Amino acid sequence: MKIAVLGATGQTGQHLVQQALQQGHTVTAVVRSPEKVTVQHDNLKVVKANIFSSDSLKDNFKDQDVVMSCLGFPTSFFSGVTGYTLSMHAMVKAMREAKVNRLITMTSWYTEPNSGTQSSYMIRFLLLPMIRSVLTNMFQMEQFLQTTNDIEWTVVRPPGLRNQPASALDFLTHEGYFVPDNSGIPVGSAVARGDVARFMLSLLNNNTWIKKAVAIATK
Ligand SMILES: NC(=O)c1ccc[n+]([C@@H]2O[C@H](COP(=O)([O-])OP(=O)(O)OC[C@H]3O[C@@H](n4cnc5c(N)ncnc54)[C@H](OP(=O)(O)O)[C@@H]3O)[C@@H](O)[C@H]2O)c1
Repeated sequence: MKIAVLGATGQTGQHLVQQALQQGHTVTAVVRSPEKVTVQHDNLKVVKANIFSSDSLKDNFKDQDVVMSCLGFPTSFFSGVTGYTLSMHAMVKAMREAKVNRLITMTSWYTEPNSGTQSSYMIRFLLLPMIRSVLTNMFQMEQFLQTTNDIEWTVVRPPGLRNQPASALDFLTHEGYFVPDNSGIPVGSAVARGDVARFMLSLLNNNTWIKKAVAIATK
């Protein structure tokens, strides 16, 4: 398949690009700093574009089968985070203009403000308040995607991310804001970035999660 990847220079995005190329896909890495892409491959094209401008994105989306995003933006206590929604609005507009309708993007567990009540005290009272501005904007982006009728989107929600390559572990999935065990308690607290990329790519052959947000964990 032909895949346009945003956030290709990021820690998860790099795994996604590598694995996509290994699987025989053709990748267009849409980045702001092309010099940051160190991988070279016959099936990899690196283009510079502005993720907040549909005009800048649309030509790079032409002829692509799918747009995949591993974009990330830092927390902000004072002004709020807007990168997720602003970039997604530009991406969706550009996808419409380029006639691409499949989108796979990542957010996080606990984007919904009240969804963390079953998590550990550390996560609930320390981590979630610290990253709330990011989670809030991810949630707004998820809500925006739900209003798009023409886009076949999937939101992948991982827990914490570990800097590790893909494993062969089975995935646990749940259509919700985290993966619960039988008692409703979140299962695990982190996955390898390589496994998030592996799961995102597995969606290319699986329509189960179209127009859905899926929380993931590994067994
Ligand atoms: N950390 C965790 O435990 C955790 C848990 C769950 C979910 N998440 C979320 O998962 C996603 C991926 O995380 P990660 O750690 O792999 O991300 P990351 O390493 O921080 O990478 C972020 C990517 O976004 C790109 N980006 C940011 N601002 C941009 C801009 N203005 N224009 C163009 N590109 C821009 C970066 O490009 P540059 O290289 O040019 O900066 C980079 O490619 C993030 O949304 C993160 O919040 C994280």
